[in-house]
Amino acid sequence: MLILGIETSCDETSASLVKDGREILSSIILSQDTLHRNFGGVVPEIACRAHLESIMGVIHNALADAKIQLTEIDAIAVVNTPGLIGSLLIGVTAAKTLCMVLDKPLIAIDHLHAHIYANNLEYADIQYPVVSLVVSGGHTILFLSENETKHIPLGWTIDDAAGEAFDKVSKILGLGYPGGPIIDKLARLGNPSAVTFPRAYLEKDSLDFSFSGLKTAVLYYYRGQDSKNTDTKTPSDQKRADIAASFQEAVVDVLVDKIVLALKMYNVHGVLTGGGVAANSRLRQRLKDKSKELSIPVYCPSTRLCTDNAAMVAGLAYKKYLEGDIAGLDIEAIP
Ligand code: KG4
Ligand code: ZN
Repeated sequence: MLILGIETSCDETSASLVKDGREILSSIILSQDTLHRNFGGVVPEIACRAHLESIMGVIHNALADAKIQLTEIDAIAVVNTPGLIGSLLIGVTAAKTLCMVLDKPLIAIDHLHAHIYANNLEYADIQYPVVSLVVSGGHTILFLSENETKHIPLGWTIDDAAGEAFDKVSKILGLGYPGGPIIDKLARLGNPSAVTFPRAYLEKDSLDFSFSGLKTAVLYYYRGQDSKNTDTKTPSDQKRADIAASFQEAVVDVLVDKIVLALKMYNVHGVLTGGGVAANSRLRQRLKDKSKELSIPVYCPSTRLCTDNAAMVAGLAYKKYLEGDIAGLDIEAIP
């Protein structure tokens, strides 16, 4: 079964063809990073217009790469929630229109569930139930996943998402956008114990997260350094690397500890991770260590499948199709 997946929930315009929920025939991801870089974050109006300009070309390229004609597709899947309303609307409208013209079934996909499914595109041995962590620019959320399509939320961030904190700290340190990969790289040169930043665990046994206090702590610490430093106007490169490493360690500590807490509370066979922050090298290393220590499999998708992509959308759609979960052409984009 051939499914065309479409993803436009934030700032990547993406289309992909996936066969039988596993085999990626093509995956086109057009990033808008350069358009948003000067603003240090995604500007919704710019994102929506850029999706509109590129969506047909991206779909065309996905078909061409897979050597598939539009008429050969069995179904079309699109992310309709959550995301930026203007961005979502472009993908949803394109998908609905194609379904109407081609008389194909439409499958509506939750972006967060698709991030978790990214693991199934690469690993065949996942046994459910599992604890799943989605960590991205917009979300930090733990699920109890009963299978590929059924996910029960256990806890989520009460303020900033982890990726948002990476992006904002990068901005504070005068580095680029998106901040996650930049901090990840810089942190390798720094000492993670150089600065003790706060870790917000919230109440006992809480599976919720909070990252806004950490972000503010980095801001005040950086400003403090700035005023102490009389030779140069800004902290040295080494100090910046130490701040990046110490900040990253604080985020990773909380993410790993909350996963361990969820493992204590729920009887599961493994852990799935997904979303842009799941590409973080320190988080991946710490999860690998934890996996060995607890003798439980922890899966992380490859970097290209951690960040936003339509392959995870087309993949999950196959499972939903088999369950008969077909959407009407009246589905809405839900921000
Ligand atoms: O999943 P994604 O592409 O989009 C959303 O659904 O939000 O995630 C993007 C986020 C950005 O905040 C970016 O800074 C972060 O993921 N990110 C990383 C890394 N790569 C991307 N954060 C930490 N370390 C990384 N290597
Ligand atoms: Zn995402």
